[in-house]
Amino acid sequence: MVTILGIESSCDDTSAAIIRDGVVLSNVIAGQKVHEAYGGVVPELASRAHQQNIIPVVDQAILQAGIKKEELNAVAFTRGPGLLGSLLVGTSFAKGFVSALNIPMIEVNHLQAHVLSHFIKQDEKDINQPSFPFLCLLVSGGNSQIILVRSHKDMEVVGQTIDDAAGEAFDKCAKVMGLPYPGGPVIDRLAKMGNPKAFQLSKPNIPGYDYSFSGLKTSFLYLLRDHLAQDPDFVENNQADLSASLQATIIDILMNKLSKAAKDLKIKEVAVAGGVSANSGLRKAFEEYAEKYKWKIHIPPFAFTTDNAAMVAMSGYFKYLDKEFTALDIAPFSRINI
Ligand code: KG4
Repeated sequence: MVTILGIESSCDDTSAAIIRDGVVLSNVIAGQKVHEAYGGVVPELASRAHQQNIIPVVDQAILQAGIKKEELNAVAFTRGPGLLGSLLVGTSFAKGFVSALNIPMIEVNHLQAHVLSHFIKQDEKDINQPSFPFLCLLVSGGNSQIILVRSHKDMEVVGQTIDDAAGEAFDKCAKVMGLPYPGGPVIDRLAKMGNPKAFQLSKPNIPGYDYSFSGLKTSFLYLLRDHLAQDPDFVENNQADLSASLQATIIDILMNKLSKAAKDLKIKEVAVAGGVSANSGLRKAFEEYAEKYKWKIHIPPFAFTTDNAAMVAMSGYFKYLDKEFTALDIAPFSRINI
């Protein structure tokens, strides 16, 4: 029996989770409301909030799992990529905790963890894990990548954004509409009431499987500017249609390249991960593509879409089996590739 504590603190969520033999026993996530007033994550405030949250969050995760800390075999933590100050809190906590318990520490790449979230079992009977090779669309506030996953360890980025991430496009366009941060879930909600064909927005023309979202952001900004010049209430009166059109365009851009990659690489098993995978329109598009192209699809439960420690513990579990431990003198990295 292998029991792993996972710790995630790469951005603005402090999370701790317990995974036992691949089955999630607890997954506690403390968000940080402090950033809402600024319309984006303020790194210094994020680190301070992590410091306040980390001990109660770990305590809760152990309590909810119904285990004693002495039953832990290892602590897995996010080493990067992410905000350095935030990562330092999780890394330092992990170092202290493993030293006290005299157990190994396991570093985890946050991006790989998002991909490996598909292997988390909700219970012992859960057998719906992907088989290799599969493609994973990783879409979050900081990343938009198409990853070819050959094994738990062997992952290759075949396409990625050359500028903004899909989540950033949601959040920044929401911001210019005067919507609260993070804008993705708000746009998702408004889009359900709007017409996705109401407004035409520009789509990038980038070769290969790479993405670009900066042109879309500019085209959205110009659309608002032009209409606002005629009608000062344009945004308020068209929130739903604007959201639906923006969301449909982002999904179209994402699915277009993903299906191209799947076709060229002859892969029929496709997954989605990261914060934007919570988007209801994207989930629906996955189901439609699955039907059309005979894909086997993997869509994570909501709790494992945004940043969470269950995926970190899961990644740590695989590394534990391979005895891949981390020395106590390591430092976190703000930038690491998959
Ligand atoms: O993976 P994640 O929690 O962490 C970061 O990368 O920071 O992703 C957060 C991103 C944000 O941009 C947020 O707006 C987006 O995921 N997001 C959504 C939805 N829920 C979260 N975007 C669209 N629709 C949603 N329902």
